[in-house]
Amino acid sequence: MATIRVHLEGDGAAAADRSYDVVCGRGVVAEVGPAVAAGGTRRAVVVADESIARTHARRVQESLGALGIDAPLLTVPSGETSKSAAAAERLWNEFAGMAVDRRTHVVAVGGGVVGDLAGFVASTFARGLPVWHVPTTLVAQVDSAIGGKTGINLSGGKNLVGTFWQPRGVFADIDTLDTLPGREFISGLAEVVKYGMIVDSAFFSWLEAHAGPLAGRDPTAVGTAVERSAATKAEVVSRDEFETSGQRAALNYGHTFAHAYETLAGYGTLLHGEAVAIGMARAARLASLCGRIPPDVVERQDALLHALGLPTAAPQAVRDVDALLAVMARDKKSVGGRLRFVLPSRIGQVDLVDDVPEQLVRQVLATAEAPPKE
Ligand code: GLY
Repeated sequence: MATIRVHLEGDGAAAADRSYDVVCGRGVVAEVGPAVAAGGTRRAVVVADESIARTHARRVQESLGALGIDAPLLTVPSGETSKSAAAAERLWNEFAGMAVDRRTHVVAVGGGVVGDLAGFVASTFARGLPVWHVPTTLVAQVDSAIGGKTGINLSGGKNLVGTFWQPRGVFADIDTLDTLPGREFISGLAEVVKYGMIVDSAFFSWLEAHAGPLAGRDPTAVGTAVERSAATKAEVVSRDEFETSGQRAALNYGHTFAHAYETLAGYGTLLHGEAVAIGMARAARLASLCGRIPPDVVERQDALLHALGLPTAAPQAVRDVDALLAVMARDKKSVGGRLRFVLPSRIGQVDLVDDVPEQLVRQVLATAEAPPKE
């Protein structure tokens, strides 16, 4: 078991109070009850993906119940379409019907969809309820459950409505990944590769050496990947909680492209991690065309993504360049309608780049080919 601290510094004593732990390891679901009880409440609401309501969510309820915490369950249909205003409104009304008040803690159990939705509802209901995350997918364990971003999608773009709302704690139980469908698991590996590309070249090399065991879901390799990724995420969030210094923006590597693909494909058609893998492949090609990296960096990243079973090219159905550019211009990461990209300068380092010629962006969106050889 590893305990990783998210240090929230920067605005005095109140921020220090908001620091929290990410607990990673096997069987850590059992730790949820004691942690929530130590938070001083006797009442919680478990918001869970319906697919794991009888398994992982029930174990969370048992852990809470053993400490005398009443914790009824609310379920959310699986899939990205649940990150909607309608789903948020339904939960707000269910909270109201259950007389949820500010002493009630919300415990989100599931993947990124449930975490983002439940976090958003917790941050807005009664002007804010304490929330805990129990991520049960790889994407959520290595990325979305850590750092306090919440959000719902609009037809015009992903995560366009949301808040920063830090959890009281995160419990990433590696055992819960056993029930994850293969495609979902592989999709989560894209966010793991991201950490190697943006800050940790040694981790990137480790991933290259362990791609087989990782894709084969070897528990030791998966545990190491989750811990190392969660530690990087926690460190980045600790340094730049509100994405103001540019450091947290590095986590968006590949995401400007990815969000456009997800929006255009229809939410839930491409899994988030699949879109991120394609987005990172596009971003690396863009960096290469801009002369920031040699083609072999693109090839190395492609090779790792392929070894893990991830795609690097967008499906034919989402290659409408004008439509993709229109979605990208609405992305939160664009500034005044100008596209802003996170681009690598080598493996293990990325920069925010504002002045990318549109014609180069069009080129990488229009094609799925390998980068030009030097
Ligand atoms: N997933 C990107 C972030 O948390 O900042």
